[in-house]
Amino acid sequence: MRLKEKTAIITGAGNGIGKEAALTFSREGANVVVADFDEAAAGAVVAELKEKGGNAIAVKVNVADQESVNNMVAEAVSAFGTVDILINNAGVTADAMLHKLSPQEWQKVIDVNLTGVFYCTQAVIPKMVEQGKGKIIMTSSVSGIYGNVGQTNYSASKAGVVGMTKSWAKELGGQGINVNAVAPGFVETGMVAKVPEKVIEKLKTTIPVNRLGKPADIANAYLFLASDESDYVNGAVLHVDGGIMM
Ligand code: CAA
Ligand code: NAI
Repeated sequence: MRLKEKTAIITGAGNGIGKEAALTFSREGANVVVADFDEAAAGAVVAELKEKGGNAIAVKVNVADQESVNNMVAEAVSAFGTVDILINNAGVTADAMLHKLSPQEWQKVIDVNLTGVFYCTQAVIPKMVEQGKGKIIMTSSVSGIYGNVGQTNYSASKAGVVGMTKSWAKELGGQGINVNAVAPGFVETGMVAKVPEKVIEKLKTTIPVNRLGKPADIANAYLFLASDESDYVNGAVLHVDGGIMM
């Protein structure tokens, strides 16, 4: 088991990639904090993990609300004593062409995808510094690296995540805390299900491996970055996108 007795907070773990990561981490021996705005989904994931013999708790959190984030970390520490791994996985889209993008759509995505990552990371750092070890994993996107039509807000947030990853890797690396990002391509989840079919069809022709990603493709990358195998990896952005752009 690669994460035996480690405690991992996974935000957005009620659905999609985060849910798959919760299943993967639990299989590898981690105590999993399934943190999500969608309380019912988080509860269902925890029930599944427990049925399979895992240790997990569900926590309702809005990552864009600092008080809610602090409560999430307090609940994790109260249940498992510590936090070893944080996966900043929760994220949202509100796609629109630039000329139609409203200030509300701009702000919502920035609040969750960028400010939320700041709140969650700041809240777990004291515990990790105290332990002299920790793993922070960020979720960027192909859209944050190369840009994407209709995603002004989202690509800004995901490019910002790369900037934070590198700043924190420099700031925290000396204290035993690794900070790395995964930049997924298009992955089969509820988020991509909202993309118009004509856009997906066009997209598929640009992916060298000839398929969209699966949640497990990303969960496996998270697992590597959460395990001791990646102790010398810091400030990296791991592209898991089938080679969509090079
Ligand atoms: N790549 C290339 N062309 C695109 C495109 C894309 N990603 N998205 C839209 N276009 C094109 C459309 O095909 C269309 O072209 P035509 O006029 O030649 O048909 C043109 O842009 C305008 O698009 P719409 O007619 O759909 O305009 P709209 O105002 O009704 O909708 C939109 C705009 C909301 C941006 C809609 O096109 C859309 O949802 N596009 C998909 C955006 C996208 O790729 N989102 C990714 C979500 S998944 C995700 O974000 C995960 C991740 O990290 C990758
Ligand atoms: P999803 O929509 O399937 O799941 C996202 C989860 O985050 C949901 O359970 C939702 O309730 C939760 N969430 C949303 N806002 C929240 C908030 N304020 N506080 C707490 N939880 C909140 O999305 P998916 O596809 O699993 O995405 C996971 C991450 O991967 C996101 O950061 C996304 O931007 C990123 N990503 C996804 C890609 C894809 O193609 N699906 C590609 C690249 C990156």
